[in-house]
Amino acid sequence: MTYFLEPDRATREAWVRLVSDYLNDYFDAAPGMDAYDGDADSGVLARLRRPPAETGRDLAEVLADIEAGSEGGILHPSGGHLSYIPNAGQFTAALGEFLAAGLNRYTGIAYCAPGLVAIEHSVVDWMTSLFGLGPDAAGVLLSGGSMANFTGVVTARSVKLGDDFTRGRIYLTAHTHHSVAKAARLAGFRADQIVKVAVDEDRHMDPEALREAIRADRAAGHDPFLVVASAGTTDTGAVDDLHAIADVAAEEGLWLHVDGAYGGFFILTDRGRSRLDGIQRADSLAVDPHKGMSLPFGSGAVLVRDESALVDAHLGRGAYLKAEDEYMGLRDIASLGPELSRPFRGMSVWLPLQLHGVAPFRDALDRSLDLAAYAYDRLKGIPGLEKVWRPDLSIVALRFADDEVGRKAMERVNSERKAHLSPTIVEGRFVLRIAVLNRRTTEEHIDHVVEVIAETLA
Ligand SMILES: Cc1ncc(COP(=O)(O)O)c(C=O)c1O
Repeated sequence: MTYFLEPDRATREAWVRLVSDYLNDYFDAAPGMDAYDGDADSGVLARLRRPPAETGRDLAEVLADIEAGSEGGILHPSGGHLSYIPNAGQFTAALGEFLAAGLNRYTGIAYCAPGLVAIEHSVVDWMTSLFGLGPDAAGVLLSGGSMANFTGVVTARSVKLGDDFTRGRIYLTAHTHHSVAKAARLAGFRADQIVKVAVDEDRHMDPEALREAIRADRAAGHDPFLVVASAGTTDTGAVDDLHAIADVAAEEGLWLHVDGAYGGFFILTDRGRSRLDGIQRADSLAVDPHKGMSLPFGSGAVLVRDESALVDAHLGRGAYLKAEDEYMGLRDIASLGPELSRPFRGMSVWLPLQLHGVAPFRDALDRSLDLAAYAYDRLKGIPGLEKVWRPDLSIVALRFADDEVGRKAMERVNSERKAHLSPTIVEGRFVLRIAVLNRRTTEEHIDHVVEVIAETLA
């Protein structure tokens, strides 16, 4: 079958119906889905790596390939997905991506699509006001937390160090997400310019150790300029004492970047707002709608207290562009981050917020907090568990008296497939994580995991 590049309306409608039926079946199946689907079929993988043919194929046949390609691995829609950082997905965001790709307007430069750039700015404005970053705040939607951390590090470097950053020093902890150290390397820093600050026994950065490290480095001729605090670490969910770190940053003249990629959106809830208090003092902040709001992978944001810092670090001019980087009060998105051409990410955040409102997102996050607290309560009495950390937000981390038993418990949970867990290593010891961030997670999922762990220990 041959399709030209302009399918007629009847063909377009038929295709949309097929895709819509396919996705509707997928969403209907999500609540009962296993969390883990095992290994993929190597024959399917080889088939899917075929190059395209000269002539087009039938969509039904292509969808069968997509269905086969979806087999194996971790099934994110499942409420039993409790590994890494869960993301249940949103049907409304899929509609947003469809619309954004269909419209295919250029949102790097405001003048090219002013209304759509206004939509994207409205989403960022909502976030900067949610996090209390003040009247001069701005931000940009990027592909995720890694790029948000990178953009934060580059902005801090530009403001605090200018062009000579060979003596600069960055402070983080052993629990900071690895994307921050990667961002620092990509931004031109050597490994020895990244300093790991000590943590307390609950894995929070020790503000006094931070102060001492900064002062010792300064006395030794280094240039401390950036501290990165975590608003929810990936491995054990710890939220640093953001006020205490902001105090040290202010007293010592450092830029404060907060990595809220996992934990940031808990600010929508009362409990989260109080746990994250101090986040409003960040100079820059990474947040990920594709984590806390379950929006499609590829939506992260860096937010900054002062728009001019972001623009100074990222403004690029070309003779083929307009002289001003603003149109009708709308800043060019390209001036706020590393990308010029970019997907219209605003649509897949804005459309779900328009269709659902904010409240359901808050309720889902509240429910994750409830379920993490429930998991903690059930686990803490089980003999054979050496330590269960009280969750700061929605990740429960646990250490076994015997690491091997911990590994066995995880393998049992994963082999039964109803739930999926992933581990981390803390101070050389195996630590199992139960990461709750999927609105489809229920008490039954938690009960199942707790029971398999208890049975493994019995
Ligand atoms: C705390 C934290 N920061 C940064 C990242 C990186 O985000 P991304 O995978 O969107 O690049 C993650 C990812 O899990 C994270 O949990």
